[in-house]
Amino acid sequence: MDLISLFPTWYEPMVGSGWVIALIATFHVLASHTSVGAAMLFAYLSHKAYREDRDDLLDFIKKYGLFLMVFTYVAGSITGPGIWYSTTVASPSGIGSLIHSFVWKWAAEWVFFVIEVVGVYMIVYLVGKVDKRTHMKITVIFGVASFATLLIIVGILSFMMEPGKEIWFEEGGFLNAFYGTNTFIQTFMRIAFMFTMTAVVGGIVVAGIKDPEFKKEMARKLGWLGIISTLSGAALFQWYLTSVPDQALLVMENRLPEYFGPSIMGVITVTIVYFMATMWKPKLVVESFAGFMAIVILVLGLWPEEVARESMRKPWVAGQYVYSNQIIGRDVPGMGIKSQLPTLEKVGILQAHPFTPEHLKTVNAGNKIQAGEYITMVYCSNCHSPSETGIRPLHRYFHDDVTQERMQKFVKGVLTTGNIAYMPKMPMLDSEVEAISAYLVMNNAGGQPAITAAIQLEVDNRNRALVEKQSIDKVATLTLPQEAK
Ligand code: HEC
Repeated sequence: MDLISLFPTWYEPMVGSGWVIALIATFHVLASHTSVGAAMLFAYLSHKAYREDRDDLLDFIKKYGLFLMVFTYVAGSITGPGIWYSTTVASPSGIGSLIHSFVWKWAAEWVFFVIEVVGVYMIVYLVGKVDKRTHMKITVIFGVASFATLLIIVGILSFMMEPGKEIWFEEGGFLNAFYGTNTFIQTFMRIAFMFTMTAVVGGIVVAGIKDPEFKKEMARKLGWLGIISTLSGAALFQWYLTSVPDQALLVMENRLPEYFGPSIMGVITVTIVYFMATMWKPKLVVESFAGFMAIVILVLGLWPEEVARESMRKPWVAGQYVYSNQIIGRDVPGMGIKSQLPTLEKVGILQAHPFTPEHLKTVNAGNKIQAGEYITMVYCSNCHSPSETGIRPLHRYFHDDVTQERMQKFVKGVLTTGNIAYMPKMPMLDSEVEAISAYLVMNNAGGQPAITAAIQLEVDNRNRALVEKQSIDKVATLTLPQEAK
């Protein structure tokens, strides 16, 4: 049997699986980055509190720590498993590839995370109950554990873009997978933006400080932290771009949504202006304003960032060998992995997919549209939503009056051959090309011909004359807008 390792496709109508993941991931990045940055800030402040024997700084740590516990740790601990659940159903082969390379690294990350969680409780509840030196030691351990979680996760994220070293394809080995230039530059860049988030979210805590002098001091400290980290983050981002595959740059330059560039520039400017304003007039820092800024950064900064990172990896989802649609598109001798493309070329996607329903295994006149829809779900829906909205909706790419013939030419010439840099090679038998094209043409016209087609099917299956009589008016009205064009 020529079956390949594919799972049923998970698809959320109107949204697509990609956006569900992006939404959860964006919240997770906000929560996790804020807390890792705060951990390092705490280590610094606690050290200062110990040196200068200051209780107000410890009090600040306690308040910020409490805020982290209630918001970011809860949000982070819910969205973290949320990423696991959503990516496991949306991208089983992608996650599988990461687990095969990094399972013990993830286990180690989890241990550090447990230290972090215990640490944040200790930091908050032991203020004033242990001496300042002990408290400082706890915050340093907390900071180191937080940093360790970041380092491990960034290694894995970088692998998703590209294995650390080319030799990994031949030899495998997690160090080859893990350590590349991209890993380190990305680590620095994330640290910078992490501090930006820590400073912005910290504003919410500063807003609650009563003593004007102390409030001014903390607003200044966080302001400087925010300005320096935002500027270095922007510079590091330029450096980061030199470490990604050419492919990614191509997508980046040509294919990112138009709002991406202006949005990033806008958020950087707004952030810096905000910090300057808070340093100049600490009174401006009130909870609502600081909270609002955290949301602005979340929506305008992190969302485009997550979308970009996801887009830049195309057509791959992990390690430059698992396509986003879960097909393995390259041999990896070092891991004993074989490309699935030869099998697909031989028997087609319908036969090769273990979960294809029996009645769709071969295309015929009666199941053409359905088979086409199934192929679209399997091959395209991780990257393109077949509905009106969601990620890269398919209908945006075709003229309204695209014909079956033109569609077939595109599918066969471009999609089955892999002739386009940012999309996977998606082999199809001729009958499958015909089926997916029929579905795409139908879908492109807003799904109307689907109804026509369904009626047509009934026509075939039942008493022709009878059904035709009943549906002839319907068909006429349904197809009218199309013909009018
Ligand atoms: C790995 C993700 C991925 C998969 C799978 C994928 N595409 Fe794409 N596709 C892209 C990206 C990225 C673009 C670039 C356009 C953009 O980002 O808006 C694109 C562009 C296109 C375009 C516009 C082509 C152009 O040059 O402007 C069409 C049409 C298209 N895809 C159809 C499909 C169909 C049909 C399938 C399934 C058979 C499919 N794609 C599968 C990622 C993918």
